[in-house]
Amino acid sequence: MAGSFLKFLRIELLRGDLDMTNQKRPTLLSDHVDMRILATDPADEAAVRNAIVQLDRDHPGFRDQEYRARRNAIARIAADYKPGMPIPVAPYTPEEQLLWRSIRDSLEPSHQQHACAEYLECVKKLELPRDRIPQLREVSEKVHAVSGFRLEPIAGLVEPRVFLECLADGVFLCTQYIRHHSTPQYTPEPDVVHEIIGHAVTLASNRLAELNRLVGEAVKRTRSADALERLSRVYWFTIEFGVVRENGEIKAYGTGLLSSAGELEEMHRVELRRFDLEMASRQNYDPTKYQPLLFCAESFEAMYQTLREFLIRWR
Ligand SMILES: [Fe+2]
Repeated sequence: MAGSFLKFLRIELLRGDLDMTNQKRPTLLSDHVDMRILATDPADEAAVRNAIVQLDRDHPGFRDQEYRARRNAIARIAADYKPGMPIPVAPYTPEEQLLWRSIRDSLEPSHQQHACAEYLECVKKLELPRDRIPQLREVSEKVHAVSGFRLEPIAGLVEPRVFLECLADGVFLCTQYIRHHSTPQYTPEPDVVHEIIGHAVTLASNRLAELNRLVGEAVKRTRSADALERLSRVYWFTIEFGVVRENGEIKAYGTGLLSSAGELEEMHRVELRRFDLEMASRQNYDPTKYQPLLFCAESFEAMYQTLREFLIRWR
């Protein structure tokens, strides 16, 4: 995906419980969590109301005022959300529903060809609607019934530690907006397609849900910035961009791959390295491009056992 990368997103507003700063932070994990920029002046309510989400000039929707207004409206829903409340309905437009259908139609054959068996089982379990964007509430209820994981709406990006530690509590923070219509196969940051078709579906696997929880628990035990960065890279090369062998073929279980038909095709042409998580924790990556190297386990089971052990032993 060059998919879920957040370096383009600038968010203003946000709730009082979040750290307020206008300083860019070093990139730790460029999916969901990096470079969140919060209100420079929380007292400036007019600015907050009128410009919740600012997009970088490179963002596909930068010049589209209508799109930016939609992003603001949907971000506002999440900003008003408090944990424990029923998740509010995000009212999508007919054009957004059409975009979802088009992306889903292009992804489905790719999944049949390139997704691991565990993922395809999860798709069957969830039975998500095909003709409209599923609401987070209904997806959360279905996922929770299987693995105990819940989804919660988030306006945009959160600190790496906040995002990852929520996983320990069985909570996945989800954006609800959809990508710009001009780039149906690309989004520079996580959108509802990546969150649902990628993460939510995989969280309907008890084994993948357990691994997500273990990541969160490992983050809670992590003190140094260097160790957090290494753990973030492990998350990147497994939960986001993991591949395994199945019957001699390379199959994806990583959510970044599973939410991008283009990157699913491309993964057969990249350098594959053996599933060495110490190596993965030291491997840099460029989130703005298709990944040129991936760490491949010999089977889903081998990946599960190795990553589980690694996370449990992480100190
Ligand atoms: Fe992601």
